[in-house]
Amino acid sequence: MQNPFAYSNYVTGESFCNRKKELTELLKYIKGSQNVLLFSHRRSGKSSLIRQVIRDIKEQNLNIGTLHVELYGTISERDFITRTFQSLNQLESNIDRLLKSVTTALKNVKLNLSIDPATGATSVSPYFGAANEATFLEELMNILLKYSQKHKLIIAFDEFQEVANYSEEGFEKRLRSFIQQHSNICYIFSGSQRHLITEMFNSTNRAFYKLADSFPLDKIETKYYIPWTRNLFGRKNIHLNAKLIEDIATRFENHPMYIQNFLFHLWDEPGEKGFSSELIDKIENSIIERRSLEHTVLWETLSINQKKTLKLILLNDGSNLFNADALKSVNLKTGSLVSKALSSLIKKEIIVKNGNYMIQDIVFKKWLQKTLSL
Ligand SMILES: Nc1ncnc2c1ncn2[C@@H]1O[C@H](COP(=O)(O)OP(=O)(O)OP(=O)(O)O)[C@@H](O)[C@H]1O
Ligand SMILES: [Mg+2]
Repeated sequence: MQNPFAYSNYVTGESFCNRKKELTELLKYIKGSQNVLLFSHRRSGKSSLIRQVIRDIKEQNLNIGTLHVELYGTISERDFITRTFQSLNQLESNIDRLLKSVTTALKNVKLNLSIDPATGATSVSPYFGAANEATFLEELMNILLKYSQKHKLIIAFDEFQEVANYSEEGFEKRLRSFIQQHSNICYIFSGSQRHLITEMFNSTNRAFYKLADSFPLDKIETKYYIPWTRNLFGRKNIHLNAKLIEDIATRFENHPMYIQNFLFHLWDEPGEKGFSSELIDKIENSIIERRSLEHTVLWETLSINQKKTLKLILLNDGSNLFNADALKSVNLKTGSLVSKALSSLIKKEIIVKNGNYMIQDIVFKKWLQKTLSL
């Protein structure tokens, strides 16, 4: 029986746990063609939620066109345009029809055809030549507008924070001016670098100011993990105790990727007689161990004060960090050193401030506790 748990890519269908509220809410925005800013910490399930809503739309024959554009790794306006062109085959998988509809809408842009060797899918990308990007963006946006005149569209720009790093002058402004005219399209802007993405949409001086409603994505609650996990293990005729699932959820602070990672390994263990607590510890340790090289490298990039500040956070559960005794315990001389280190660690997304200061990645936190013998 195939392992239903997965943790290295987005998940949908049976591997996707709950998120019913979020799916309903998202569908409401989509049907009303309202734009959404979907954000969360890394690996919390944004792309999976997008794929699942697209899957639901198709299964329910809602007659809404869907486009999921992965912007990760794009570094320029050209890359943005190329990725979006290449994604158009999601709207029309028949290449002849795609070419026909795209080329009739294009005035100045020539296209290249390419075939993905892995999937055999054909896609189109623009041939830039000496032309300038503004023309390409305009024509691309025109194609999207034309599609949306036939039926509603959802266009999800995933990892949208990449756009903030493009150096082309005025790109965000130009993009905004097109998006504002697309009344039959729901744009989903999705991203994980919280400070970057929220700044793009919340600063009055930025082009995307108030262009989308905020849609923060939380972790999945334990009460949803319990029936979902039980149901999947039930297929192997293994009855999982609710307490065990609660324990796993608590160990990983309800983080979906780590819970999937854990269950992936648990799936292969013989569990007819139940699972021992030694086994549960062993799997947890193996997850920490497997990421230890990555965490060592990260640790080595930190300054001594940042390291001390992480220790300070762990020792004090993220609060009262400026207390004189607390500072002394990690040998930090002044509170201003802590302030400086805290803001660097927040920028690097290693910690978050949520009332208290917390280490964002639970497995990094566990690795630190071990490494620092806390
Ligand atoms: N609804 C869900 N149910 C169960 N597991 C989930 C769910 N959503 C996400 N996951 C788990 O989390 C992992 C990461 O999900 P996903 O790639 O969707 O997150 P993301 O927020 O887009 O990540 P990134 O920040 O890297 O873009 C998935 O591989 C899966 O293991
Ligand atoms: Mg993603």
